[in-house]
Parts: sequence; C-alpha cells; structure tokens
Amino acid sequence: MSVSTIANSVKNVLAAALVITSIPDTWVQVIENKENHYTITLVLPFVHDKIHLLWQNAILQDLSKDNNLKINSLEWKWQSTVAAMDTPVGAKTLPQVKNIIAIASGKGGVGKSTVTTNLALALAAEGARVGILDADIYGPNQPNLLGITEKPQLQGKALIPMLKYDVQSMSIGYLLDSAQTPVIWRGPMVSGALQQLLYDTLWHELDYLLIDMPPGTGDIQLTLAQKVPVSGAVIVTTPQDLALLDVQKAVSMFKKVAVPLLGVVENMAYYHCPNCQHVDAIFGEAGGKRMAEMFDLDLLGALPLNTDIRRACDAGVPLVVAEPKSEIAQLYQHIAVKMAARLALRAAPMKRRFAKIVVE
Ligand SMILES: Nc1ncnc2c1ncn2[C@@H]1O[C@H](COP(=O)(O)OP(=O)(O)OP(=O)(O)O)[C@@H](O)[C@H]1O
Ligand SMILES: [Mg+2]
Repeated sequence: MSVSTIANSVKNVLAAALVITSIPDTWVQVIENKENHYTITLVLPFVHDKIHLLWQNAILQDLSKDNNLKINSLEWKWQSTVAAMDTPVGAKTLPQVKNIIAIASGKGGVGKSTVTTNLALALAAEGARVGILDADIYGPNQPNLLGITEKPQLQGKALIPMLKYDVQSMSIGYLLDSAQTPVIWRGPMVSGALQQLLYDTLWHELDYLLIDMPPGTGDIQLTLAQKVPVSGAVIVTTPQDLALLDVQKAVSMFKKVAVPLLGVVENMAYYHCPNCQHVDAIFGEAGGKRMAEMFDLDLLGALPLNTDIRRACDAGVPLVVAEPKSEIAQLYQHIAVKMAARLALRAAPMKRRFAKIVVE
C-alpha cells in the first residue's frame, strides 16, 4: 500500500513538473527494503542531473502531507539513459549522434539562435553530451553567441567540432572569413554546405545535437526535412499574432515529414521591470499558450524580453553559463528538460520514409 502511495506521489510530482498527463510505469520503481525503509529508483530516458533535486524536494513535500504514511528512511536512485532514435529509411546515418533536434521558427529574429545556445548549455548542465549545428548558412550566429573566434582543425577531410562550455559546435561562420559570406550561394550549394557541416564533422558521442535553423521555410529547411534524420523539432515564437502564419508554415513543414513537434518556446513573452518589478505582457497575455493550443502543441515555456539575455549573448557568454542560478537560466533549464522528456516520449523510433515535400 505504502509502496504504491509513494510511487503515485513520485509520478504526480514528475507529471506536474514536466507538464505531461502521465508518467510511464517503467520510469519509477519503489521497493520497501524492510519495514518503512524504502528505495525509490527513477530511470528516466532524458537528462536531469541537477533539476531532479527540485523534484526530489517536491516529492518529499508531497509525501509529508500524508499522515498515514510511515517512512523511516528513503534512498533515492536517479538514473538517466538517453535512447538513440532510429535513422529513417533512406537517411544517411550519423551513428555518433543519438538525437537531432531542430530549433525552428517561420519568422526571423524571434530568438532561435539564442534559445538554441541556451538550451544546449542547459542540457549540458543536466549531464547530456550536446552539440550545436548552426544551419544558418547565410547568417551564422553561433560563433558570436558562443564567443568562438578560432577556426576548427581538420582530421583528414573531416572537421573537428569546436568545444566550448562543454558543448561541441560547428558553423560555417568558423570556416569563412566575413568577406566570403555566402550571400550569393544558390540552393544546391547551400544544401551541400549544410550536409557537409553535419556529416563531415567528427561529432564525438552526442546525446543531443541541436540544429539552429535559419528563418523561413526555404532550401535549408527542405534539405533538413528531407535528408537529415531529425528526431524532433521545437518552434520558437514571439507572442505577436503576426507571427502566426509563419509558425503555421513551419509547423506544417515538420508535420508533412512526420518529425515530431516537441513544443513551442515563447520568447520575449513579457517584460519584467528590474526597477519597479512590474511584469508587462508586451504583446498580450498568453499568446504562446493560445498558439500552442491552436496547433495542438505543448508550450514548453515562456522567456522574458530581458537585457541580460541579449547582453550575455553579445558577450559570447550565454546566460545559462554566465548566471546559472538566475531565474532566467532556470527557465531555460526547465524548458530543456521538458523538451528532452517529450523527445523520449513522443519520438517513437522513426521508420518513416523521407517524403518529397513542397512548402507553399
Ligand atoms: N529573450 C530575449 N530578450 C532580449 N533579447 C533577446 C531575447 N532573445 C533574443 N534576443 C535578442 O534578439 C536578437 C535576435 O535573436 P536571435 O539572433 O537569437 O534570433 P533568430 O530567430 O535566431 O534570428 P534569425 O532569424 O536572424 O536567425 C538578438 O540580438 C538577441 O540577442
Ligand atoms: Mg538565428
């Protein structure tokens, strides 16, 4: 009886923290070793090295409300095992990468690159081996965001990814001098460059490779959707209604190629005045929530419009590493874990074929 009470409490707290309806039985095991001495084992298919301390406290608090429950000792075992997605039929494999997550939006300038970098660092902080592929061939931002000015080394013909803040990364920005910015490249060249950056980089054992997508639904997006084994996608948006149509395009593109949509991140959702503490929903309340409901997606979280986020990025030291204990870093942390949990739950092994698609 007590065993199931404890297991239910664990599941309820986890489900509430991750904002999912139920927790699979396989994730939680409670054993009574001797009378009133318990071991709780959690084997979760996503990283949670730091955040689980919050959950553990919330579970203890929940258990303490039950006066009938007698617990003399509790032993916790938290384990994570990040599973690798199957490569879809027809896709070139990337055996050293377990999961590829595209961070996309229909519209430019909504904060994809900033979100990508901070989520990657948040996943690394939770214990994941993480990489970032900057897929913005025309306007690579990751070198600035990560504060990397060196050029990658070669091993044979392959590129060794840059390593900073425990995150591996590759960007065309590392390879080109600014004078060579490929603004005049045509579609096939861009598509080729993206595939080279992905496949000719010696990624070293990654749990998650985050792809920082360029804006829109053009050549790069099509290449990615058709040729790259993406395990899941996250849509970044600002809560302006104007962005809706663009979001719709991005959502329908991923749906057409059966890439699971892991959810929406609402960026620049509100402004929290550091002086008077007033919180202002600049573009209206709950825009991200409405949008998520409209497209039947989960809202992974909302981030404020905040000077520190921009300043940290401009300095090449993203907020999650610059101020890991700050409220905003915690928001990124929660979003990252919710995203990883959904990937594990939603992205059933991919057996899909690559569809030819046209995005209007
Ligand atoms: N939450 C935020 N608060 C304040 N500034 C932000 C926030 N998110 C992003 N920014 C800033 O907004 C600008 C655009 O962000 P970013 O480059 O990440 O957007 P993007 O969607 O990747 O743009 P593009 O479509 O051009 O690739 C940057 O100057 C960035 O520092
Ligand atoms: Mg960008």
